[in-house]
Amino acid sequence: MAEIGKDISKAKQLLENGEVVGIPTETVYGLAGNALNEDAILKIYSVKNRPKFDPLIAHTNSLDKIEGLVKEIPSKAYELTNAFWPGPLTILLNKKSSVPDLLTSGLDRVAVRIPDHPLTLELLSALEFPLAAPSANPFGYVSPTSAQHVEDQLGDKIPYILDGGPCHIGLESTIVGFDGDDVVVYRLGGTKVEAIEEIVGKVKIQVNESSNPAAPGMLKSHYSPGRKMIIGDISENLRELNPETTGILSFMTTYDIPVKNQVVLSPTGDLDEAARNIFSALRKMDQPNIEVILTEFLPQEGLGKAINDRLRRAAV
Ligand code: TXA
Ligand code: MG
Repeated sequence: MAEIGKDISKAKQLLENGEVVGIPTETVYGLAGNALNEDAILKIYSVKNRPKFDPLIAHTNSLDKIEGLVKEIPSKAYELTNAFWPGPLTILLNKKSSVPDLLTSGLDRVAVRIPDHPLTLELLSALEFPLAAPSANPFGYVSPTSAQHVEDQLGDKIPYILDGGPCHIGLESTIVGFDGDDVVVYRLGGTKVEAIEEIVGKVKIQVNESSNPAAPGMLKSHYSPGRKMIIGDISENLRELNPETTGILSFMTTYDIPVKNQVVLSPTGDLDEAARNIFSALRKMDQPNIEVILTEFLPQEGLGKAINDRLRRAAV
C-alpha cells in the first residue's frame, strides 16, 4: 500500500529519484513523474496500464517554465492563460525537441497546464522539471477525486500519495489547441466552453467520438464503472428492472430503490456540484450487487456538457 500524507519534500525527493507519486489537482488526482525523464514516463504508462499512443500532459507552476518547453505561444494562448491559469485548462502547443517524444506519443504538440492546487503548486515550484501526470486511475476506469480513490486502485504500485483533500472541480481539464487562428476544443472539461468563448470568441469543438482516434485525444470507451449503464428516462427504464440489483445515478431526483444503490448528483440542480460528485458516484455504482446502472443526461450547458460527455463514454 502507498503511504498517504502531506509531505511535499518527500514527494519531491521521490520524483527526483525517478519515482511516480499520486498528486492532487483541482480537477482529478494525477499520477506524476518527471516529464523529461523517459524512465519515469515509462513507469507512468506501466502503472496505469496505458497504451503508449495516448500522450501525457506536462504540469508546471509558471509560464516561464512552459516557454522553455514550447516553440512559441500564440497571442490567443496568452489570453487564455491570463484568464484561466492556474486552473482546469490544458493547451496544446508545438514542442521543442528537448521534450521527449514518449511524453507526446510522437506528436508535434505537447499538452501543458498550470493546475490550481496549493500543495501541487508548491511541489512544482520546488522542482526543476515539469510533471507528466495523467489521471491516477487504471486505463479505461473512472478518474480519482480523492487520495483514497488513488490508494484503492494504484496503492500497491506506487510509494506515495500527496493528500490534498477532495478535488474541487471533479472533472479533468478542458483541452484546447489552435488550428491557424481558430481555437479548437479537443476535450470538454472543467473550464466551461462559454467562458472560453467570452475570451477568444467562437471556438470549434472537435471532441473525439471514434474508438480509434487519429489524434488520440479521447477514447470512446472510458470512465467505465464496470457495469452496464443505460442513459435515458430513469423511471421508465426502472419499470422493467429489479430495484435490488439496479443502481441509479440521477441529476436531482430521488427514486424508490435502496438508498445504497443511488446517488443524486445535485438535489438543487447545480451543475458545478454535479461535476464534483460524478466520478465518486460512478465508483459507488461499482459494487457486486448492482447489475445495471440507470442514468440520464444533464442540461447541456456549462459543466453539464462535460458531464454528459463522461456519461456517454462510461456507457459504451
Ligand atoms: O485535469 C487533467 O487534465 C488531469 C490532471 C491530473 O491534470 N489529467 C488528465 O490526464 O486528465 P489524462 O492523461 O488522463 O488525459 C489527458 C488527455 C488524454 O486523453 C490525451 O490523449 C490528451 O490529453 N493529450 C495529451 N497530450 C496530447 C497531445 N500532445 N495531443 C493531443 N492530445 C493530447
Ligand atoms: Mg484520464
